[in-house]
Amino acid sequence: MRKKIALVGAGQIGQNLAMLAAMKGLGDVVILDVPAYVNVAKGKALDLMEMAPNGDYDANVTATSDYKDIKGADVVIVTAGKPREAGMTREDLLAINIKIIGAVAAGVKENAPNAFCIIVTNPLDAMVYAFHKMTGFPKNRVAGMAGTLDTARWRAFIAMELGVSVQDVAGTVLGGHGPDMVPLPRLTTVGGVPLTDVASKEQIEKLAARTREAGTEIVKLFGKGSAFFSPAWSAIIMAEAYLKDQRRVLPCAALCEGEYGVKGLFIGVPCLIGAKGVEKIYEIKLTDEEKALLAKTAASVKKTVEETAAVKA
Ligand code: APR
Repeated sequence: MRKKIALVGAGQIGQNLAMLAAMKGLGDVVILDVPAYVNVAKGKALDLMEMAPNGDYDANVTATSDYKDIKGADVVIVTAGKPREAGMTREDLLAINIKIIGAVAAGVKENAPNAFCIIVTNPLDAMVYAFHKMTGFPKNRVAGMAGTLDTARWRAFIAMELGVSVQDVAGTVLGGHGPDMVPLPRLTTVGGVPLTDVASKEQIEKLAARTREAGTEIVKLFGKGSAFFSPAWSAIIMAEAYLKDQRRVLPCAALCEGEYGVKGLFIGVPCLIGAKGVEKIYEIKLTDEEKALLAKTAASVKKTVEETAAVKA
């Protein structure tokens, strides 16, 4: 039987998710949005059905505003919410998006209680925390998309700076999806060569700073709205790893219960993603300096989670 992928939110990221899920043959796609936007969502679904003959896929893509239509979904990817606009921080979005996540969590809990859920809505670390709390789903079935994107940006900037293929740049970014995320130059390689051997300290600092502000760089260029191609791909590889039991090791926002000294927060850490969802969190032996940076980002995530709880109260 075909897998079913439910996409909650049919906006910029949602429409790219729908296209990628169809093109990658992950399964049938149901896009859900609010009633006021459902005709646009239906238009996007129909457009994707009409793309199929030339797009070389046979997925059924439909749209709805009724949660009953996501019944039995294998994967749910949540992008419902407002994106950032110029001058807004991810935290500014908090008050608006926490209400939306509340509604989404209720609908998903009732209709797709066995799905692997990937949250994309910002502020990411707080929204995935809230979704997990509200649904009560086991921690292995709830993950936030951020590390896969932050790491992609880190790799892209390194490749652009050094003039090498991005395919040969490997590395990871830890922590919250905000300006104090932690790229790890010490553990980044270019075709097996340590980054620290091929780039100067100043270059590396510049690349890390650009990575930390990469979302904002795009928001400033757009003026309205935030990145969508790269976030969509980043969530799709997580979904694919789960659906195909690929056992990929991807940086995702996962619930830490003591790992990295973090208790009860979702932050970006290297995760093994397979048929059971987040099957394992890998702990890297960090230097004291890296540990201090991680403690700082964890403190920021905790603050946002607390602010979210205060908004709800
Ligand atoms: N249920 C379902 N969909 C909703 C709800 C809701 N309660 N509230 C809003 N939406 C829908 C909107 O109607 C819109 O179609 O979510 C969609 C969001 O799409 P965009 O505004 O285009 O935002 P997008 O760029 O896709 O980003 C979505 O991901 O990266 C984050 O910061 C970003 O929080 C934002 C989210």
